[in-house]
Amino acid sequence: MARHLITSAIPYINGIKHLGNLIGSQLPADLYARFQRGRGNEVLFLCATDEHGTPAELAAAKANKPVAEFCAEMHDVQADIAKRFALSFDHFGRSSSPQNHALTQHFAGKLEEAGLISEVSDKQVYSNTDGRFLPDRYIEGTCPNCGYDKARGDQCENCTKQLNPVDLIDPRSAISGSTDLEVRETKHLHLRQSALRDELDAWIDSKSDWPVLTTSIAKKWLHDGDGLRDRGITRDLDWGIPVRKGDADWPGMEGKVFYVWFDAPIEYIACAGEWADATGNDWERWWRTDKGADDVRYTQFMGKDNVPFHTLSFPATILGSGEPWKLVDYIKSFNFLNYDGGQFSTSQGRGVFMDQALSLLPADYWRWWLLSHAPESSDAEFTWENFQQSVNKDLADVLGNFVSRITKFCRSKFGEAVPAAGDYGEQELALIADLTTRIRAYEGYMDAMEVRKSAQELRAIWVAGNEYLQSAAPWVTFKTDPDRAAAQVRLGLNLIRLYAVLSAPFIPNASADMLAAMQTEDTAWPDDVAASLSTLVGGHAFTVPEVLFAKITDEQRDDWQERFAGVRD
Ligand code: MF3
Ligand code: ZN
Repeated sequence: MARHLITSAIPYINGIKHLGNLIGSQLPADLYARFQRGRGNEVLFLCATDEHGTPAELAAAKANKPVAEFCAEMHDVQADIAKRFALSFDHFGRSSSPQNHALTQHFAGKLEEAGLISEVSDKQVYSNTDGRFLPDRYIEGTCPNCGYDKARGDQCENCTKQLNPVDLIDPRSAISGSTDLEVRETKHLHLRQSALRDELDAWIDSKSDWPVLTTSIAKKWLHDGDGLRDRGITRDLDWGIPVRKGDADWPGMEGKVFYVWFDAPIEYIACAGEWADATGNDWERWWRTDKGADDVRYTQFMGKDNVPFHTLSFPATILGSGEPWKLVDYIKSFNFLNYDGGQFSTSQGRGVFMDQALSLLPADYWRWWLLSHAPESSDAEFTWENFQQSVNKDLADVLGNFVSRITKFCRSKFGEAVPAAGDYGEQELALIADLTTRIRAYEGYMDAMEVRKSAQELRAIWVAGNEYLQSAAPWVTFKTDPDRAAAQVRLGLNLIRLYAVLSAPFIPNASADMLAAMQTEDTAWPDDVAASLSTLVGGHAFTVPEVLFAKITDEQRDDWQERFAGVRD
């Protein structure tokens, strides 16, 4: 039995995610986790909310809530939506957890011991009234370029010019409006990533099996311009993990916190600790190569914008610590999903957000469309026409129709139990041979995380069952040879169970419904397809399930298209 550690990029806390975010990491990670569990492997699948940084502070301020309270609430909201999308995390943690505080401080201490931290002096705007340093976007003033009076320290929203806070005319604090500002010296810690460049370079070079999308981004950052730059890992903010060296104070760093991109990936490890504390499990056998994690296969899922942090920054933290932590074995990265001729946008509220999607249709409809159109080799686009087509054809016409036809036919001719008579003949053996080839191909694609190809192969497996049913035509055979028809129907009913097992990673709820209808909990993976198709034997009771997938009507499609054309409030 193999052991798989699987993580999805941890979503920012500051709002509900859209479907583009979902297909960029959490959903394909879930697909892979469910597949590996289905094959009988041991899986630890982790995700969490990414709770620190200025965006979290800003979102909390906008919601008029203390930031800790805001984060706790939004964590629960995101956890609930994840559950309703059937994302099967073993733990959905929080980067603000005590475990992550301790571990982040631990890593910083180890990096400092290894001589990889330097202290750098910076100049930054300080607000006397607010009693704090102001990040660039917390400073407002008049744009020197266009005269707009609410320009932000990093950029003018009106003319889009990139700014420095010192460029602003009449600068003031965006928090209090105070103009009592001054430029102060402040010290920050830098992680000397450049010292690890050769080690990182060699490590990336050893990953010849990684997707080009992943390695090309890493290589670009390693070799472009001045190469891998040292980066600041601390900030003058209140909300975050206080800067400490392990358990000890860090003189000169009082009142500062670690930068969100330093502590967020460490949450992958801390999250295992949260899971272990909640369940009494051992997390070190997943994360420490000196404590059993050397036989773990670790796979990370993320959007392409996250690749530099996972190929360089986080590995720099791990390698630099000098401790035996598990490094990632495979990084599966995704391009972007666009929405109906434009981009999904959280800030502009453009596109379909996870909660809205579930208010229209159950999770499986979305899961199937998103996964079968995953933005793997290039960006992909969501359109309502395409969504309607794929749901109606693949889910309703192919899979749903198969299940409904065979169960209803059996009920009308043989009753609600698997018919015992007859034997599988040539036609059935041919189908089994075809399915065996296809299922082996499906396993290969799923193992390789070829998401679109896996979906295509699964669909072909459903189609094969339909074609068999069409040509075997038990409704015709029944008239002259009821025993033969019985064998055909028995095969069809067994196919429903087989489809439930194979399809569970994509459409877990429909799969559960299919298994419930077949009144079986036998989810054994079809290593031997012939044997698998003889699981349900004569006399085994079943029920005809409710319609598995309803078709999307043209009216619904038009209505939704219009409703989501605008922006979310
Ligand atoms: N919150 C980031 C995003 O949504 C991802 C953080 S991934 C981690 O883009 F590695 F930092 F954890
Ligand atoms: Zn301007």
